[in-house]
Amino acid sequence: MNEVIINEVGPRDGLQSQQVILPPEQRIDLINALFAAGLTNIEVGSFVSPTAVPQMAGTDAVARGISVPVGANVSALIPNRKGYELARRSGVDTVAVVVSATETMNEKNIRMSLAQVMDVAEDIIARGSQEGAKVQAYLAVAFECPFEGKVDPTRVYELGGRLLEAGARELVIADTIGAADPKQVRSLMEWLVGAHGASRLACHFHDTRAMGLANVYAALESGVRRFDAAIGGLGGCPFAPGAKGNVATEDVVMMCEQLGYRTGINLDDLLPIVEAVSEVLGAKVGGRAFSWLKQRAA
Ligand code: COA
Ligand code: ZN
Repeated sequence: MNEVIINEVGPRDGLQSQQVILPPEQRIDLINALFAAGLTNIEVGSFVSPTAVPQMAGTDAVARGISVPVGANVSALIPNRKGYELARRSGVDTVAVVVSATETMNEKNIRMSLAQVMDVAEDIIARGSQEGAKVQAYLAVAFECPFEGKVDPTRVYELGGRLLEAGARELVIADTIGAADPKQVRSLMEWLVGAHGASRLACHFHDTRAMGLANVYAALESGVRRFDAAIGGLGGCPFAPGAKGNVATEDVVMMCEQLGYRTGINLDDLLPIVEAVSEVLGAKVGGRAFSWLKQRAA
């Protein structure tokens, strides 16, 4: 398959740990601009406690306010059953449940044990299939946990298998703190692709140690064709110390297109969005290739 699908997570992962909190209107403008640049999959926010993550307050208004092109898919992250109900009421197509691969990360992130989170996730997946909602399952800290260290791939394989068998539409393997290397990625993703096929698998990388794009490439070589990325390389989890930005959307688009994959995303349209985001956040953002891309466009 010569196509790569990029799921833009900037409006959620990118904004959830920013010091500047964007009101729903600005988040709506960002998402509409991303749709206009050709993105067809966008995570528009999360339905979480506004006390825990004030940056994501008003995701319902965001989901209702955006102009979704025909054929595009809108998702939102949810931590629990309450999140599922709020997300359903706001009309998003896909809900993303998050299971962290370690006990401590689940406790820190959503105050549940791993067993509880798995129960909740399996329950939400079952409800989703009864009620016609697509449920995506994230397996966070899939390579390394900021609290418990390296994560055994066998554990990821088993938990991921359970989530897929429960009926998750897609399993997203997430390197939440950006600690994975391409060799680990290739080995884990080949194992998972061999067991489940690539069509229900996706990867989510952070660029903390400058291995984000190399990890995307390793996953591509394993057959994975679906990737999360965030405009301008924004991102980070407020509950995972050391988590830096996601791999930048413009970098992933550039690499995939140069390798001959189609993304459907217009690189030239992404650059003004990176600049607009920098301006509203009052901080310089941009992936590794931003200056070069900018020069090329000039
Ligand atoms: N959306 C909005 N509000 C929610 C909610 C949701 N999904 N789930 C719970 N709440 C509210 C409750 O109604 C309650 O509100 P109240 O104090 O006004 O009555 C409050 O949050 C606390 O509820 P409780 O069930 O006791 O939760 P908690 O304090 O144990 O916190 C979470 C658990 C999951 C709600 C919270 O840790 C959270 O939202 N975490 C988000 C983590 C995140 O976004 N991480 C980054 C992405 S992976
Ligand atoms: Zn992330």
